[in-house]
Amino acid sequence: MTHTPTWDPGQYQRFATSRLRPALYLLRQVALTDPATVCDLGCGDGRVTWLIAERWARARLLGLDSSSEMLDDARGRAAEHPAERAARIEWRHGDIRTWCPNGRFDLIFSNAVLHWVDESHTPLLRRLASYLRGAGSCLAIQVPVNWDQSSHRLIGESLRALGLPDDRVAPALRWAERDWVNHRDSYYHALADVAADVEIWTTEYLHPLAGADPVFEWLKGSALRPVLAALQPDDRERFSSSYRKRLREAYPPTPTGATLFPFRRLFILATL
Ligand SMILES: C[S@@+](CC[C@H](N)C(=O)[O-])C[C@H]1O[C@@H](n2cnc3c(N)ncnc32)[C@H](O)[C@@H]1O
Repeated sequence: MTHTPTWDPGQYQRFATSRLRPALYLLRQVALTDPATVCDLGCGDGRVTWLIAERWARARLLGLDSSSEMLDDARGRAAEHPAERAARIEWRHGDIRTWCPNGRFDLIFSNAVLHWVDESHTPLLRRLASYLRGAGSCLAIQVPVNWDQSSHRLIGESLRALGLPDDRVAPALRWAERDWVNHRDSYYHALADVAADVEIWTTEYLHPLAGADPVFEWLKGSALRPVLAALQPDDRERFSSSYRKRLREAYPPTPTGATLFPFRRLFILATL
């Protein structure tokens, strides 16, 4: 099993509005009117979990995540919400790969998480579907599918250009070139015989990012984290400067000052 290094909620939240957009969109696609139990799987900093608790005023929620840093941030948001909402949310430290809940859920929601989970996604999705309560309950998932885009391809290219011996670069390359997200059809086939309805679609967002080296800064809060953590300090500096340069060429700032960052995401909505 591969363990993901620690998360930095502050860096992740630098682009919170853009990162939140697909989660809010996915949440709006869920037609449930009054779910009693909801799991936000890989809840991260809890922004979405709190919104789920706001939308369904009687739901009891489980926010599960393997990052203590993210969970602390999620719990810390309690001051921004009514006490009754906080009382309905249980935050739990746990790993999706070994998670086996006691109860069943009306909704399992998972936004931007499963691409971090290095177990075969077919049994994983079927296992998650088995944690749903029964007819009418839903599995709602979103994962990035932009591994072939410059932002991600240039990570591997910049690592190789360092000319390092294999043992110094291989751990970083393993993270850079991991491919744990399946083809969309296989998600359909994984769920088709356990769900009454399976909808799968892809949306490409065009995020206008502000500031210097914004694509680098975005990725530093997500995909780049384990890559940087796997490099020695000197190698990390050299890699960062070479990768930043390549990104500037691939994503030049527009005349308005914004850098346009296209980002494709796969959505899965399965209803039992
Ligand atoms: C990109 S963040 C998304 C957080 C949140 N769902 C959101 O939409 O803002 C990915 C989260 O997945 C969590 N994660 C990754 N692998 C996990 C695993 N195996 N078990 C539980 N959580 C995991 C990370 O700790 C991180 O908080």
